[in-house]
Amino acid sequence: MSSHSTLTRRLALTQTAAAAALAQSAPPAKLGLIGNGNRGTAHLAAYLKMPEIKVNALSDLDSARMDSYNSKLGGGATKYVDWRELIRDKNIDIVAIATPNFLHPEMAIAALRAGKHVLLEKPIAINYQLAKQIEAEARKSGKIFAVGMQRRYRGIDAHVQQLVDNGIIGQVRFININEYRGDWSPKGWHYTDPKSGRTANWRFLKSSSGSTELEFSVHAFSQVVQLVKSPLARCLASGAIMHYKDHETRDVCEGLIDFANGVRFTYTFCLFAQGTPGRTVIVGDKGVLRYGEDGALLLDTPAAKGQTPPPLTGHSGELAEVLMYKEFLDAIRHNRPSALSAAAAIDAAKLAWAMEIATVENRIVTAKDFA
Ligand SMILES: NC(=O)c1ccc[n+]([C@@H]2O[C@H](COP(=O)([O-])OP(=O)(O)OC[C@H]3O[C@@H](n4cnc5c(N)ncnc54)[C@H](O)[C@@H]3O)[C@@H](O)[C@H]2O)c1
Repeated sequence: MSSHSTLTRRLALTQTAAAAALAQSAPPAKLGLIGNGNRGTAHLAAYLKMPEIKVNALSDLDSARMDSYNSKLGGGATKYVDWRELIRDKNIDIVAIATPNFLHPEMAIAALRAGKHVLLEKPIAINYQLAKQIEAEARKSGKIFAVGMQRRYRGIDAHVQQLVDNGIIGQVRFININEYRGDWSPKGWHYTDPKSGRTANWRFLKSSSGSTELEFSVHAFSQVVQLVKSPLARCLASGAIMHYKDHETRDVCEGLIDFANGVRFTYTFCLFAQGTPGRTVIVGDKGVLRYGEDGALLLDTPAAKGQTPPPLTGHSGELAEVLMYKEFLDAIRHNRPSALSAAAAIDAAKLAWAMEIATVENRIVTAKDFA
């Protein structure tokens, strides 16, 4: 090695060590969390493991929920029933939003306009137009905006992504995902639709959740778009409310998606199949990766059936939410876009919006629907 390259390497190591020391000595990021319900508890669990975050404020319509969160945090957070007051709080640099889907645009845009960095729970918004408004506002604000698609940091998803990116199955050609679950938790916050006057669990109503594809399937769709790396070209879908007759959101769905690079994706969900393990099959031109919620990740190649692929490397095994927040804080520190950007969230949600349009309007949806 030349003396010049040795010097360059030493300098790089010194700079990396200095950056790590600076990150450790930096004061904790000052965060406010809006929405202290079911999902908020996963954010809370991450904060309790992260000295680099200090929760200075909480907001929820339900004071008892704020009290319960605050006691877990040691009691130091200011509590606001009105989320607008949290956004105005000068003691907050980051606003995290974990409220029902229909509230996402108003809250995220107000927080960005108030000069805060924003971590917004998935899905970005109920429709494409609102999502584009958030994206534009995030760009204009110069603040860091991320959408909480933490599943990409989960071990199995990270492993599959690494194997595919390393070319273990060659070019991805076809993906099939089947997902199952039971009904939504009855503890969900209840919303009154101003048009119909109907009050129900927000996940049952289209006006508050968007669709089941948007609320539930968007995690799988996020994985698919990261594997395929090509825009949606065409979508056909069909679905229904077969079992939960009091819901406005579907409990079964079948979707067929073609991407611009020729990859095809078939998807189904059923929400009255409690306990049934989901299944994913990713077919490449050199092999197949397959796994179910009840079994191991397996690799089929022309030479061998059911091999165990090489293990995941470079993953700390920490909670997905902790890894997500670490990436978000790093994006803030280095003033670079988060990997969980508005564009990434829109690419994933587009599959859900497309399935909704295809089902409701009984037609083929194409890229032109998102022009
Ligand atoms: N990333 C994931 O894996 C994941 C998992 C579950 C939910 N989520 C998302 O998290 C969000 C919240 O879902 P949840 O399961 O926590 O719902 P939830 O019904 O359990 O909780 C929603 C909370 O929001 C509060 N709220 C409602 N309106 C408010 C307002 N105007 N101001 C302040 N607080 C308000 C409610 O009081 C309630 O505490 C949704 O967007 C959902 O899609 C993400």
